[in-house]
Amino acid sequence: MKADFILKNIGQLVTMAGDNNPRTGRCMGEVEILEGAYIAVRDGRILETGLGEPGRELIGDETLIEDAGGRAVTPGLIDPHTHLVHGGSRENEFSLKLEGVPYIDILKQGGGILSTVKSTKEATHEELYRKARKSLDTMLGYGMTTIEAKSGYGLDLETELKQLEVAKNLDENHPVDIASTFLGAHAVPGEYKENSDVFVDKVIDMLPIVKERKLAEFCDVFCEEGVFSVEQTRKILLAARNLGFKLKIHADEIVSLGGAELAAEVGAISGDHLMAASDRGIEMMAREGVVADILPGTSFNLGKNYAPVRKMIDSGVPVALSTDYNPGSCPTENIQFIMQLGSLGMKMTPKEVFTAVTINAAHSIGRAYEVGSIEAGKKADFVVFDAPNIDYVIYHFGINHTRDVYKDGRLVYS
Ligand code: NIG
Ligand code: FE
Repeated sequence: MKADFILKNIGQLVTMAGDNNPRTGRCMGEVEILEGAYIAVRDGRILETGLGEPGRELIGDETLIEDAGGRAVTPGLIDPHTHLVHGGSRENEFSLKLEGVPYIDILKQGGGILSTVKSTKEATHEELYRKARKSLDTMLGYGMTTIEAKSGYGLDLETELKQLEVAKNLDENHPVDIASTFLGAHAVPGEYKENSDVFVDKVIDMLPIVKERKLAEFCDVFCEEGVFSVEQTRKILLAARNLGFKLKIHADEIVSLGGAELAAEVGAISGDHLMAASDRGIEMMAREGVVADILPGTSFNLGKNYAPVRKMIDSGVPVALSTDYNPGSCPTENIQFIMQLGSLGMKMTPKEVFTAVTINAAHSIGRAYEVGSIEAGKKADFVVFDAPNIDYVIYHFGINHTRDVYKDGRLVYS
C-alpha cells in the first residue's frame, strides 16, 4: 500500500510498541528503540515503521517524504491530568506561599480553588475558550497531542457544564485531542462548609446531566483531609460508575487518607498525585492495574515531597506523568520540565519518563487503543525533537526541545 507521508532518517525512533493491555498499562518494561528508521503514514494513521530506507512499494506519485535529519522521534506526548479550562490566575497568593502558608489553609480561607471558582463563574464561554486555547497552543508546542481536561471550577451545574462545553469545543477545533473529566467535587463551596454531605448529593445529582450530554468520560474527586473524605469520595464515584463513567481520584496528595486504596477498591482507571500514598495502597493499585498519574510539578511548586515513584515501579504499578496544569498548585503547561523533574526529582530513567508520558498516559485515559505508541493502525501522532536521542531531551533541561509535531499525520507545529 502507498503511504501519503513518510518521515525518514530518524536517528532514534522510540515506538513504545508492544503492550496495549488496556487494564494493566505497559508499566515500565522494555522500550523499543529503532536507530535509522522511518514512519509511513496513510489517512492519518501509521501504516508501518521500519529500518533504513522505505521500500519502493510505499512510495507513489503523491507520497510526501520528509527527512528527520537523524533526530529523535517519539509518540505524541499525552498529558492525562490537567485543569485546562478556568478563569483568572492566582499570582496574588504567591507571596502567601513564599511565607509558608499551606496550600490547604489558603483554600480554607476561601482562596485557592474557591478563588478560581469565582473567576470561572464570572468568565463567559468565549473568555474561557480563548484562555484555554492559548494554553493548548503552548502544550502543543511542547509536543502534546492528547490531553485530559477537568471541570471543577464551577461547583454548580451551570458553570461545570460551561467548562465542559469549552473543552468539547476545543476538542473539535484544535489539533490536540481532549478527554474530559467531570470534577464537580473539587472543593466544598463556602455555603456548604458545615454540611458538605448535602453538597456531595448535589454533585451526584449533576452526574446524569453531564452523562446525558456526553460531556465527560471520567469522574474525579479531590479526596483530601478538609475537602472530601474517603466515604464521600466513594459515594460519588460509585454513583458515577453506575452511570458508566470511568473513575479518577485526586488521592493522597497531602495526607495519607486511603485514596490509593480507594482507587483500587472502586476500580479507578487512575489514582493521581499519591505523594502520601501508603505501601498498602501502592500494592493494591498494582494488583488492580490502576495507573499512578504522578504530578511532580505540583510537588516542586508546593515545596512538597515527590511521590514514591521508584517504589511504585518496583511494585508493578504503571506510572504516568502529568503537568496537573492549573492556576494554583501547578501553573505550567511545560510537560518537558515535568519530565525533567520526573527524572531529576524522582530518579526515573529517560526511558521510564517517556513511557510515562506516552503509552502509560494513554492507558490512564483509556486511549491506548489509538494513541501512545507508534504502531500500525494507531493515530499518526508524533514529535520530532531537536535532539539526537531521548536522554538528551531530559539531560538538557529547562528549554523546549520540540522541532515538529505531527497530529493525525499532519504537521501542526514547527
Ligand atoms: O490537582 N488538588 C486539587 N486540585 C488541583 C489544584 C487546583 C487549584 O489549586 O486550583 C491539583 O493540584
Ligand atoms: Fe489536579
